[in-house]
Amino acid sequence: MKFIDQIDIQGKKLLFRVDFNVPQDETGAITDDNRIQAALPTLKYALEKGASVILCAHLGKPKGKVVQELTLAPVAQRTSQLLGVDVPLAPNTVGREALEMAASLKPGQVMMLENLRFNPEETGKTQEDRGDFGSKLASMADIYVNDAFGVAHRVNSSVVDVPKHAKMCCGGFLLKKEVEFLGDALADPRRPYVCVSGGAKVSTKLGILNNLLGKVDDIIIGGAMANTFLLAKGLNVGKSLVEEELVDAARNIIEKSEKMGSKLHLPTDFKYAATHTATEPDGVCDADSIPAEAMVLDIGPESAKDFVAVLKRSKTIVWNGPMGLFETPAFAEASFDVCRAIAEMDDAVSIVGGGDTDAVVHLLHLADKFSFISTGGGSFLEFLEGKELPAFKALKECNR
Ligand code: 3PG
Repeated sequence: MKFIDQIDIQGKKLLFRVDFNVPQDETGAITDDNRIQAALPTLKYALEKGASVILCAHLGKPKGKVVQELTLAPVAQRTSQLLGVDVPLAPNTVGREALEMAASLKPGQVMMLENLRFNPEETGKTQEDRGDFGSKLASMADIYVNDAFGVAHRVNSSVVDVPKHAKMCCGGFLLKKEVEFLGDALADPRRPYVCVSGGAKVSTKLGILNNLLGKVDDIIIGGAMANTFLLAKGLNVGKSLVEEELVDAARNIIEKSEKMGSKLHLPTDFKYAATHTATEPDGVCDADSIPAEAMVLDIGPESAKDFVAVLKRSKTIVWNGPMGLFETPAFAEASFDVCRAIAEMDDAVSIVGGGDTDAVVHLLHLADKFSFISTGGGSFLEFLEGKELPAFKALKECNR
């Protein structure tokens, strides 16, 4: 797989797949432009080299229809502000207007195609469903650049089909950084190496946990997913959120972790309340005495202290998922403790991924204290599961 600094892009026209799937408020205003910021180094590099850039991206899930609220217009505008050059938006993707705009693009100029997912072919399940959308997109440019780690796990036309038809392909600097941190750093991690896993569901983390068993020294489990592990240990969790069907899978992880040398750390106390809409806890309880009518909404102070102690002796930390219902201030404390503890560790490699975890880091304004914050959500999880992501496979095959 090649990256943009390994090929000659001087004066070339680049079709640039980016992940600008940014959050917006009800008026359509962008509330967080991190994903646009993350692609700027590659874009600036391309423009300095005298290339011209056709940006293509998706926003939301319009399901193959034109949904005006999901136009990329605000995204093109913000990109233009951040990049300091005009970024006109084509009214479509591979329609006449877009093709004409792309054909007349001059070196140093940038344009953006309208939301890729307004076309049903972009997300078609089979090659037949996706038709020739990928080849039409590829035909607009000399080189295809993928800098969209957030969609690297998606079998979408702009991710897997364009590389089949492009004359040349490469990854951008953002993709390179993701590979360096998630791939290289974790292939040969400094030890002790700890994985902190949280959030609501075991189901979304099973793949990662199984892949990291035996590779990491410690696994810390918090958030509502810990409840399923407590159930697997035969404890009562009251009305807390659980995934009953995954109790066996959780038990399997508990058993395997001992045999494979990854120490599993589960919470030993919790803050609980009668309902998840509570704004204050009703109390703190031990893991073996969760009240039958209550649900646990954050791990307790003892657990947070124990987890921080494990983190403090680690040299590589991968964190995905908050420790509790951090959106409610009264249940955010443990997630904040974990976040602050990692942020203070100048001597460790710290990697964060996933929207909620990223939100905790940004709430505390600690983003610059982490070694790396992945722009991926699903792609971050799948990468750590050890899967080869479709985008990487396509980029490798393109240059064969
Ligand atoms: C994301 O927001 O995680 C990426 O842009 C992928 O979006 P998707 O889950 O809608 O494919």
